[in-house]
Amino acid sequence: MKARVSIHRDFEISEIDDRVYSAFLEHLGRAVYGGIYEPGHPTADADGFRGDVLELVRDLDLPLVRYPGGNFVSNYDWTDGIGPREDRPVRLDYAWRTTESNAMGTDDFVRWCRKAGTEPMLAVNLGSKGFTEALAMLEYCNHPGGSYWSDLRRKHGSADPHNVKVWCLGNEMDGPWQMNHRTAYEYGRIANEVGRGMKTFDPTLELVACGSSHAHMPTYPSWEAEVLDECYDSVDYISLHTYWDNYEGDYLNFVAKSVPLDRYIHTVGGIIDYVKAKKRSKHDVFISFDEWNVWYHNRKQDEKDIGTSVWKEAPPLLEDVYNFEDVLLVGCAINTFIRRSDRVKVACIAQLVNVIAPIMTENGGPAWKQTIYHPLRLASIYGRGRALGVAVDVPTYDVQVADDVPYLDASAVLAPDGKTVTFFLVNRHPDEAMTLDIGMAGFEAKAVSEHTTIAHPDLRATNTAKHPDRVKPAKGKGVSVRDGSVRGKLQPRSWHMIRIAV
Ligand code: AHR
Repeated sequence: MKARVSIHRDFEISEIDDRVYSAFLEHLGRAVYGGIYEPGHPTADADGFRGDVLELVRDLDLPLVRYPGGNFVSNYDWTDGIGPREDRPVRLDYAWRTTESNAMGTDDFVRWCRKAGTEPMLAVNLGSKGFTEALAMLEYCNHPGGSYWSDLRRKHGSADPHNVKVWCLGNEMDGPWQMNHRTAYEYGRIANEVGRGMKTFDPTLELVACGSSHAHMPTYPSWEAEVLDECYDSVDYISLHTYWDNYEGDYLNFVAKSVPLDRYIHTVGGIIDYVKAKKRSKHDVFISFDEWNVWYHNRKQDEKDIGTSVWKEAPPLLEDVYNFEDVLLVGCAINTFIRRSDRVKVACIAQLVNVIAPIMTENGGPAWKQTIYHPLRLASIYGRGRALGVAVDVPTYDVQVADDVPYLDASAVLAPDGKTVTFFLVNRHPDEAMTLDIGMAGFEAKAVSEHTTIAHPDLRATNTAKHPDRVKPAKGKGVSVRDGSVRGKLQPRSWHMIRIAV
């Protein structure tokens, strides 16, 4: 099969916001306890943070980590997690029906972020709590001192404000599973009032209103239109979430699931424009895709586990073990975020550690990289700069989730120094190699500075504590620059990063 890819120096889509390479961490299962925080672990530091996990997180170079939920946040009292640990109350978490010790809280998380080389993206509870608690949390985090809440933070050991810039106004408020779920009108109203309050404190804050939990919600896409109608000028982003399963076990259908993702972003982009026009507003709203991932490997078991682990503390929940096939869909999803960088400014893989996550740990034992860690890391490091428009001429196929799915999925990024163009490519074809020909109009393609590939003969291959390196990046072969074009061969079912010096 032949694939022709064309880019042009002058055909730029947008500056890619670095924050599309962010992640999400919730008080859920062993994400926090046994994940990032485990005092007594051989690698734990004086704060109880696991050093092995910190190292793997630092290596991902994540601009933001969203916290503390997720569904958890809608029944969370943030004041339970501050102050001396011995005084913090033990509570029941109604989202996951577990017991929350509150050993980790806001100050601890911000301290962890500083060590992990990332910034916190905090969510306020707009389920069981509201305006007063959200404003108190903001003042506690960001006011320098001289007020009740800021002085309390200082008393708890953080003299400097945490300076949290990005705030989520609740989580998945469209979902009937959410504690104190609301209608679009009710949620839009409270998001507007809380947003106005927070912006009165600091107009430079960036606020995220809840969009749809997924594109199959019965309220999608009128939810976005109604919510934004209420709060458009008080917020900066509308969030979207999506998770992909593969219950049908159909490889070609599974790796095509990034195509409806593109449509989802396109539709919500249109709704943003519609509300902006309706309001005659000059303000821009973008998309924060703050939960996305593959999630199904353990999902059926999860339902049982949630039933049998009722009120346990940090039980293992949602511990999906990712395989090589997932690398391909994750790679296509990241390509979609790059191609839609004009709309999507924040994207958080969900989640970060143990819970549907690129990093896994054993309590008291090792931490390792799941298969999906690798495409995320390489895109996070080399996918920064300006997204270029990519035209792909390749045969297509039709499956249940989409028609005309190209066998090659591609994105292209011009590095900030203008000296490298990086292509992220996925050959979706199950058994045919692809002859690649990339035309780079307006560039002088000099040489292949790097070709890294992720491939494995077994789609079901996984990384485990015992075999952490079954699926990992390797040096690619057979791609070269000839007569100003990039030529090569991509083996079937493979992910590639090809960096061209220009
Ligand atoms: O990431 C797991 C859960 O998925 C989150 O708590 C919720 O926001 C979503 O439904």
